[in-house]
Amino acid sequence: MTAKIISGTVVAAEIRAEVAEKTKKLLAQKRITPGLAVVLVGEDPASVSYVTGKAKACQEVGVHEETIRLPADTPESQVLALVEKLNRDSKFHGILVQLPLPKQINESKVVNAIIPQKDVDGFHPVNVGKLLMGEPFFMPCTPHGVQQMLVRSGYDPSGKHVVVCGRSNIVGKPVAAILMQKQPGANATVTICHTGTKNLPHYTRQADILIAAMGRPNAITAEMVKDGVVVIDVGVNRVEDKTKKSGFRLVGDVDFEAVKEKAAAITPVPGGVGPMTITMLLVNTVRAAEIAAGITV
Ligand code: GUN
Repeated sequence: MTAKIISGTVVAAEIRAEVAEKTKKLLAQKRITPGLAVVLVGEDPASVSYVTGKAKACQEVGVHEETIRLPADTPESQVLALVEKLNRDSKFHGILVQLPLPKQINESKVVNAIIPQKDVDGFHPVNVGKLLMGEPFFMPCTPHGVQQMLVRSGYDPSGKHVVVCGRSNIVGKPVAAILMQKQPGANATVTICHTGTKNLPHYTRQADILIAAMGRPNAITAEMVKDGVVVIDVGVNRVEDKTKKSGFRLVGDVDFEAVKEKAAAITPVPGGVGPMTITMLLVNTVRAAEIAAGITV
């Protein structure tokens, strides 16, 4: 069997068209342009690249975006003061502080400072708690994107055994929280594996849907999956490649070439989950603007 390729680019384009439609309506009916403030501290190349992608995507769907760039040695107090200012600025419906932050800044202090109504990343403890309780407000973008890819590609997780590899706050924990809910597009049996898991293949071989979010290139091999599995590869790893101008190429956490021979469906890297993360950020930002406009959806 050769797997069907689940293209994040294709699913993302479908959702972005829906978002563009909503921004048009907001402008026509309420005179509101959704606004997103992105804060970038320092010049980490991966972060710069993400932030540039976010700005471009916003422009394409009619979201007003401003990136505020601060030097790497900015003190924590200054970042907190900026967040406070953005909380009060009504032209921004969403605030995103790009992570990771430099060492002198406490990430959780900054995430806590963003008001939950503008937390389009879905990282604030209030939003994390709501998600776990089955009353989601803003869902974190990457896990929400994973769910949308599954559902919109015809792989409804309901009743399936989903095995998540990785327990990060950004991906592993929230994707499990989303997929375990008694909700349409969820209702799965979820197992979470992590660095403390003994005999990882014992669990991964049981997966109907396998979500790899470990941050380790080629960590999931063909021997670790069953025939017909659906694989979502969240990994984005830079590996050295002298044939590339940049000196590196991006690979996921899954040995794509080998696993695709056994899987029913699989996401590529790049072009898989990546475009979905930014897309779900657009979804959250437009929803924040709709709520601010008194539209409840
Ligand atoms: N760094 C890597 N992914 C993300 C994300 O989704 N949001 C933020 N704020 N920072 C990130």
